[in-house]
Amino acid sequence: MTGRFTQAASTNTVLLDRFKSCRLQTEKICAPLEVEDYVPQPIPEVSPPKWHLAHSTWFFEQFLLVPFNSDYKVYDQDFAYLFNSYYNNAGDRVLRPNRGLMSRPPVIEVMAYRNYVTNAVLELLEKEERNSQISEIVELGINHEQQHQELLVYDIKYILGNQPTFPKYGDSFGTKAEKTIEEWLEVSEGIKQIGFAGDGFSYDNELGKHRVFLEPYSISKKPCDQC
Ligand SMILES: [Fe+2]
Repeated sequence: MTGRFTQAASTNTVLLDRFKSCRLQTEKICAPLEVEDYVPQPIPEVSPPKWHLAHSTWFFEQFLLVPFNSDYKVYDQDFAYLFNSYYNNAGDRVLRPNRGLMSRPPVIEVMAYRNYVTNAVLELLEKEERNSQISEIVELGINHEQQHQELLVYDIKYILGNQPTFPKYGDSFGTKAEKTIEEWLEVSEGIKQIGFAGDGFSYDNELGKHRVFLEPYSISKKPCDQC
């Protein structure tokens, strides 16, 4: 899967704000967790929250800061090995089923790594205001991190759902009965248009626009209060 752009990326100020709010959102999703919740990997398909936090950060370091800022100092040389996923051209990596074995670096260091990289990206964006190549990579990095936000929500649910005491992920996940009707979107059956068409960023697997038949359904307007 690759990203594509049909128009210049957002203006620098808009992009800078979107980048900041994306980074904060990832941390907000994890805020209700206890520190021990950041590490387990109950099945290979579920990645630990700590890994998501670091991997989405490594993406900006590897593909933006290293190639576009000659003064940038890599936070920790081991992190590329620990937090690469499937980017073969970026080197070897810890195998996916082993992500939950990593008790180090501790969560506190991963959060420091996030701050370090976030600040370095903001500085670069301020300095390189008109560099469209940089803007496109930041846009891709934001979209990549947003994918990991979605993964985080369901991985956290899986991790907590595998605890013997079924701890709650804060008070933010309500069932339909617990939520007021205004929080639910009712969708009638029929032929709907799906797929991306238009300007701006999309992934290639979101193309092209086409019709599908959907049964009636209702869906919460947001997955949780953290989202
Ligand atoms: Fe990723």
